[in-house]
Amino acid sequence: MVKICCIGAGYVGGPTMAVIALKCPSVEVAVVDISIPRINAWNSDQLPIYEPGLDDVVKQCRGKNLFFSTDVEKHVSEADIVFVSVNTPTKTRGLGAGKAADLTYWESAARMIADVSKSDKIVVEKSTVPVKTAEAIEKILTHNSKGINFQILSNPEFLAEGTAIQDLFKPDRVLIGGRETPEGLKAVKALKDVYAHWVPDERILTTNLWSAELSKLAANAFLAQRISSVNAMSALCEATGADVTQVSFAVGTDSRIGPKFLNASVGFGGSCFQKDILNLVYICECNGLPEVAEYWKQVIKINDYQKTRFVNRVVASMFNTVANKKVAILGFAFKKDTGDTRETPAIDVCKGLLGDKARLSIYDPQVTEDQIQRDLTMNKFDWDHPLHLQPMSPTTVKQVNVVWDAYEATKDAHAVCILTEWDEFKTLDFQKIYDNMQKPAFVFDGRNIINADKLREIGFIVYSIGKPLDAWLKDMPAGQKSNSTGGTPNTSRRPRG
Ligand code: UDX
Ligand code: UDX
Ligand code: ADP
Repeated sequence: MVKICCIGAGYVGGPTMAVIALKCPSVEVAVVDISIPRINAWNSDQLPIYEPGLDDVVKQCRGKNLFFSTDVEKHVSEADIVFVSVNTPTKTRGLGAGKAADLTYWESAARMIADVSKSDKIVVEKSTVPVKTAEAIEKILTHNSKGINFQILSNPEFLAEGTAIQDLFKPDRVLIGGRETPEGLKAVKALKDVYAHWVPDERILTTNLWSAELSKLAANAFLAQRISSVNAMSALCEATGADVTQVSFAVGTDSRIGPKFLNASVGFGGSCFQKDILNLVYICECNGLPEVAEYWKQVIKINDYQKTRFVNRVVASMFNTVANKKVAILGFAFKKDTGDTRETPAIDVCKGLLGDKARLSIYDPQVTEDQIQRDLTMNKFDWDHPLHLQPMSPTTVKQVNVVWDAYEATKDAHAVCILTEWDEFKTLDFQKIYDNMQKPAFVFDGRNIINADKLREIGFIVYSIGKPLDAWLKDMPAGQKSNSTGGTPNTSRRPRG
């Protein structure tokens, strides 16, 4: 029986290993983590992450060929294949602060593998890491190997949160990079055999180590770039009277461009896009390619601009002041169908509104009050590092009230901001919401999910990203709000913390 161990039971390691266990009954899979509460949660009915379909997969395999444990060393020493899926946040201090990936967790995992191994192992990079990390890890392992043979592979994960299980069941491709030596090729084959249980041969791509590492950064940079491109267009649409949805549709029907990932939004979030682009920028700078670095930086600048623009629009529309006004925030997660808030645009938007002294009432179907308070009070350094399961600090933002119901959040509010595209927001009773709000009642749709015309009939003043503006909004252009810097998100890039 092949034994697999995965170090890191997070958003990537947990679901990926659960699906490997489901699809390969002959493989024993252990997922290990240093965080005791996280492992306890994986062994309970309340999994530590919300992901549609995940409960079902875990229930089918847990205790059979899928195990979650904190006994990291035991499972690593017994495994034939070790996946490393620990966090790699952006460095906040020292050399490369604000851009380079912090490989502390990676390095400590590699040293531990070298320490406890008694048999040959294939070590697989699963977390996104800078190009040439495999080489560094190889050095750590071989210099501490005690005669054991380690083969390093890069097998980046392309799943998106919210659709992780479907993405894992039917991946567009699986990418495996390895050394082009006989031992390297043998290791690639061994990992390929695992995926071959359910992924068609032509979808398993093999490359050299560095191509695999760089492909992951490139894929995320291209995806983020599409969103920044459409978001940049959304600003121009508002200025000219074009409709960004129509423009995206027309652009996306060109088969060379394709229709997906062209939804204008309040900005992209998630743990990967910004981190991976910053990483790419750093690698370019280190390799003497400042023009290339500058090109990719722009993707992040537009994303920051989009969040700032949204806050400015809200404040400008409401007579240039939201001080003491209740503003309802619907959605806090970085996208629907996840409880994850890492890099969510909601953090910057909420901080921007709080800076202008608004009172916020926040509802998200999957994000807890603790998490929201932590996101709004913690500085980036703490927030980016794996302390998310530690007890909450006593500081809370008093102007923020977190509720479990959209109607309660919107009651007596002056405005509603939709920041995550949860399906349930589409079917809310907006007449009821309107009746219970202050007038004039505003809706700022940061995800273009509501029917703006219907809401206007009810009486709302509606702003939808990239769509022709209401007469009201035209009269109060956000661009003229020049000096209320307190109300805009802090867009300066690092160092943070
Ligand atoms: C373009 C648009 O494709 C077309 O839809 C529009 O109507 C007019 O502009 P054209 O300029 O004729 O058409 O050729 P196109 O095939 O788009 O190539 C433009 C340039 O991009 C060429 O120099 C081509 O060599 C280059 N190119 C194209 C690349 O360098 N790499 C590619 O992958 C594709
Ligand atoms: C992303 C990549 O899609 C995935 O392949 C990689 O493995 C990890 O990073 P994820 O961050 O989970 O996945 O979600 P994704 O669906 O890519 O969305 C990222 C952000 O972009 C979200 O905030 C989402 O709301 C936003 N987005 C996405 C848009 O604003 N418009 C779009 O058209 C698509
Ligand atoms: P991702 O989204 O990449 O999966 P997460 O932050 O969700 O990232 O998960 C990474 C996990 O790795 C965390 O649960 C963290 O506790 C764990 N981890 C970090 N370093 C180690 C280590 N040396 N040994 C075991 N687990 C680790």
